[in-house]
Amino acid sequence: MKTLNFKTNLCYVTAIFLLISTNALFSQTGSKTPAMGWASWNQFGVNISENVIKGQADAMASSGLAAAGFQYINIDDGFFYGRNTDGTLKINPTKFPNGMKPVADYIHSKGLKAGFYSDAGANTCGYQYSGQTMGAGVGLYEHDQQDCDLIFKTWGFDYYKVDYCGGLVLKLDEKTRYTAIRQAIIKTGREVNLNVCRWQFPGTWVTEVGDSWRMSRDINFVPGSTPTWSVIMEILDLNTFLAPYCSPGHYNDMDMLEVGRGMPFEEDKKPFSMWCILSSPLLLGNDLTKMSAQTKSILTNTEVIAVNQDTTGLQAHLISDNGAGLQVWAKNLNGKQSLERAVAFQ
Ligand code: GLA
Repeated sequence: MKTLNFKTNLCYVTAIFLLISTNALFSQTGSKTPAMGWASWNQFGVNISENVIKGQADAMASSGLAAAGFQYINIDDGFFYGRNTDGTLKINPTKFPNGMKPVADYIHSKGLKAGFYSDAGANTCGYQYSGQTMGAGVGLYEHDQQDCDLIFKTWGFDYYKVDYCGGLVLKLDEKTRYTAIRQAIIKTGREVNLNVCRWQFPGTWVTEVGDSWRMSRDINFVPGSTPTWSVIMEILDLNTFLAPYCSPGHYNDMDMLEVGRGMPFEEDKKPFSMWCILSSPLLLGNDLTKMSAQTKSILTNTEVIAVNQDTTGLQAHLISDNGAGLQVWAKNLNGKQSLERAVAFQ
């Protein structure tokens, strides 16, 4: 038995034990394994800019995170600026004075991949909830192919988070919308990691359409504010019975991580371990330019990351719960027929 570095404290620290003695599971590229990267929302909200994004890309490349497998730099909401008369998307010229292509190019020049954001309806969530008046009419609705061609063929982005605030307002059918968006992406000829952001498991159709899908509310409704432990627990609980929908290349997304955003070191370990064993995409939400050595030690723990990146593509099952706060979770590793397991106690 191989014990990972995490100190066991059953109150709030998860320990993961590999019931094998191998570390050959880690995959840096694996397009079929959960996405690993960073996203702007939890830390910066709509206060993003070319400099902020480039700074995070620099930090990911130089801090050891890229070497540990993190590769996506995802630009979340906050950059929209309406559309031109021909329908093409406009980008906020104050925040991104050079537009989006140079930002994607810069991210790629660091050996990383670039993520973009939109909505399946007409308006963005930022328009509805974060004062982004220029987020009206910039969603994909009635612009699927035009936007996908621009974002993936012309600008070269690699990841797409597609939200649903505008979709809800228009009462659109989720399966129809996300299927059409996937088709538009396919027509670009680019391989794009599609994240369906419907804030709940949206139906079995999503396992064919999305590389991942958000299965909960936002982990943090107030970007920039400190994490809320009860919300993290709520997300864990919600994912308990979604294991059957997880398969190679298709994952339950537990939202951006809150590690390194104000919780004590010992508490920060648990969500990272649980996101890993539940095969969630690992999208960091902290400011990578101001990462403490302790935060970095959690986020670059390659043995725990290996549990997340195991190519079997299953997520952990809850094995037992004593009703008094102790749970045991186990995840198949190294093939469905294998007897190898990662085990978490929390
Ligand atoms: C929704 C999503 C968040 C974030 C914001 C941006 O709330 O769930 O993750 O993308 O929109 O406005």
